Amino acid sequence: MKIAVIGTGYVGLVSGVCFAEIGNEVICVDKAEDKIVCLQNGKVPIYEPGLKEMIHKNVTGGRLAFTTDLPTAVAATELIILAVGTPSLPDGQADLSYLIAAAEEIGRAMNGYKIIAIKSTVPVGTNEKIRSLIQMHTIYPFDIASIPEFLREGSAISDTLNPDRIIIGVDHEEPIAELLELHRPLTDQILVTDIRSAEMIKYASNAFLATKISFINEIANICEKVGADVSQVATGMGYDKRIGPSFLRAGIGYGGSCFPKDTEALIQIAGNVDYEFKLLKSVVEVNRDQRFNIIRKLELELSDLKGKTIAIWGLAFKPETDDVRDSPAIEIIQTLLSRGAQVKAYDPVAQDNFRRQLTHSSLTYCSTAEDAAAHADALCLLTEWKEFREMSLTRLETLLRNPLLIDGRNQFSEEQLASTSFIYYSVGRPNLSKGIKEPRPVILF
Ligand code: UDX
Repeated sequence: MKIAVIGTGYVGLVSGVCFAEIGNEVICVDKAEDKIVCLQNGKVPIYEPGLKEMIHKNVTGGRLAFTTDLPTAVAATELIILAVGTPSLPDGQADLSYLIAAAEEIGRAMNGYKIIAIKSTVPVGTNEKIRSLIQMHTIYPFDIASIPEFLREGSAISDTLNPDRIIIGVDHEEPIAELLELHRPLTDQILVTDIRSAEMIKYASNAFLATKISFINEIANICEKVGADVSQVATGMGYDKRIGPSFLRAGIGYGGSCFPKDTEALIQIAGNVDYEFKLLKSVVEVNRDQRFNIIRKLELELSDLKGKTIAIWGLAFKPETDDVRDSPAIEIIQTLLSRGAQVKAYDPVAQDNFRRQLTHSSLTYCSTAEDAAAHADALCLLTEWKEFREMSLTRLETLLRNPLLIDGRNQFSEEQLASTSFIYYSVGRPNLSKGIKEPRPVILF
């Protein structure tokens, strides 16, 4: 199948490459010339394990190419996948301007029947608006389909090649056969539905996963007060097939390019039809508060943070990505700086992206995890990179000025801590080190 993928962000690039990998002829289009030149030269603008190698393989195999020339790409293909960004506007609504611009350009470039499939996450009803828009710019017939994307950063390739399900939203029979043919090599679990339901499935899925995370984070906060262990609670809950074990890791809350944006957008979508999505509003609020538990724990031990040196391990919103969009680390570091702390930060991959977001005279970026920890009054782990987990705690203890470890991702065990004198705080787990100032659990009865 000949496919044009418009937009080479995370979703567009990974989908395009994976469709080439399963034997299609794919042309990836983007307006950003620097991005396209970079891709044409074998460089990858994002960090995603395995992506560079897969691009190289498919470019040399003649199945994958990159261009800024949208009209030529549209004219040469019958299936056009729209995967441009829909970032949040200040009021939380999705910004559809890139999508609208691309749709108009596609309409003008059409030279015959096309299937235009929208992968960008868009509010319910957008696909139909895009159809009207394209209609205004072309005399040729076409069909619209909604094919939402569920890939996760860091495991984007395996998620795309082995998805849990494929959703195809259509309002005509015509495009179904071709879209099924495209996706069948990936999975048999394909739901063909109407366009509005397909649009809603994407938001509802992300909102549900975000809810699971905020739920377990609140359970963790209660566990801290009653002396229970949230990791045990999550394991016990997860054995129930109706609940399932995933997305029950307590921590400092979710970040990234999807959950924060999509939860806000769904609250807006509901609000636009006079429905207050109370549950999701609370999920967002819990998520915003959760990150500040790090500061509270630091202050419990160090009192005033002014003049204290705080080491930060991890800046990406999760491991295996260089993405720092809506990373909890941003607000945590900003708060530390505003309270007069000196911050020494390290991330194995996301440091350059983070530096573009945040520079400050009291913020130093370090070249190794050990450099960041050296002479610090406390160390906060914010992203669960493997190299942090594998660090020797006895060695770490010799580096810090004060052995205070605040673990925002529950990475260390009682055994690892046993031979150290660390004062150790994690999230929702009982005190694993001696002498911490966390209030003792209340007597329950
Ligand atoms: C998410 C969805 O999983 C994916 O289906 C959608 O297409 C895009 O949004 P992504 O943002 O790449 O993917 O990452 P994900 O692995 O889902 O994690 C999102 C955030 O939740 C991260 O900040 C992560 O640290 C946090 N998280 C995840 C938790 O705090 N606890 C968990 O149990 C799981």
